[in-house]
Amino acid sequence: MLFPKKTIGLDIGSHSIKFVVLKKSGKSMSLVDLGHVPLKNRSIVDSSIEDPEAVIEAIENLFSVAKLKKGEVVASLSGPSLVIKKISLPKMPPEELEEVIQSEAEQHIPFDINDVNIDFQPIGDRVVQGDGDDEEEIITTDVLLVAVRQELVEERRQVILDAGFIPIIFDLDVFALENLLEHNLGGFGEQVVAIVNMGASFTNVNIIADGVTEVTRAIPGAGNKINYDIQKEFNVAWEKAEELKKGISLGNISEKKVVEVIINSLEGVCYDINRMFRDFIDNSGRNIDKVYFSGGCANIVGIEDLIRNNLGISTEIIDPFAKINVDNKKFDPDYIRQVAPIFAVAAGLALRDYDDKGLS
Ligand SMILES: Nc1ncnc2c1ncn2[C@@H]1O[C@H](COP(=O)(O)OP(=O)(O)OP(=O)(O)O)[C@@H](O)[C@H]1O
Ligand SMILES: [Mg+2]
Repeated sequence: MLFPKKTIGLDIGSHSIKFVVLKKSGKSMSLVDLGHVPLKNRSIVDSSIEDPEAVIEAIENLFSVAKLKKGEVVASLSGPSLVIKKISLPKMPPEELEEVIQSEAEQHIPFDINDVNIDFQPIGDRVVQGDGDDEEEIITTDVLLVAVRQELVEERRQVILDAGFIPIIFDLDVFALENLLEHNLGGFGEQVVAIVNMGASFTNVNIIADGVTEVTRAIPGAGNKINYDIQKEFNVAWEKAEELKKGISLGNISEKKVVEVIINSLEGVCYDINRMFRDFIDNSGRNIDKVYFSGGCANIVGIEDLIRNNLGISTEIIDPFAKINVDNKKFDPDYIRQVAPIFAVAAGLALRDYDDKGLS
């Protein structure tokens, strides 16, 4: 590449919208800018944009403060309305695979096939024992099937266009995080790792084995649920609950009591993650070597210990800027360290090669 190229990752979360701009120069990557703006509560519910005007305004404000020229962005989707599934098919030519996937997808997708956007990626071939009388060996291709409700992609595309940007690729949060971690680690090798992204609405979890996402789930319960539980326990307003969760403005409420509410609130999420991990370990016969943690809830004091103790697996909070040059004169290192977990998805999106094919 002759000229450095800038890429923008735009993460439209239900709690806040974030962007990361990176400059790629050969193999080296530097941070050009980043920013986030809170979103009015309930503007996005269950991944669906309920208040497009609020989202458009937030994107416009975010980028006008950053004085960023409007252009192409890589955006994403997350939540329970996505289906990501590994399926095995007999090996066949690529053109045929494309046709077969469409009919196969119908069996795996709980939505009307005409309303979904389907993407797939062949991830490797395997030789398996046939189940016919002759027990002949057959070659199968493992394919990662991704299906997203078309409506969700369209409403996101529209708010981004209305805010004056061009969504050049639609990725998924879990793939953006996989991309980021692969960049940080320089590849996964033999490791089996999981990523737990705990934002406001959902805790998105993916397990990566042999360098690809094998299983993924959007578990209900994250920052918003903690706020509801704090509100209920202490009879306080949403904003106060948000502060209590962050360990500020405690007044006469004991810190220990708040921590107890947070631990209880996350009990269901921990149980679901544990069950997902057990299923993976039972089905694959492989262990999970490490759990990487991201999202705003990674900032909750003691959360890493809570997850580690619950899962019995070593944990680490993802540093999205571990392998990105950050100019200390331009960006305060303390600030970057503090906000890092919320920028993981946006950084993973900005790391995407614009030439890659996405969901759109
Ligand atoms: N310092 C902190 N301590 C505790 N919680 C925090 C802190 N910073 C952010 N959070 C919480 O993290 C959540 C927001 O995280 P994040 O920005 O990853 O979510 P989002 O991407 O907007 O939402 P989602 O992906 O679920 O739609 C909120 O519930 C917020 O209160
Ligand atoms: Mg998010």
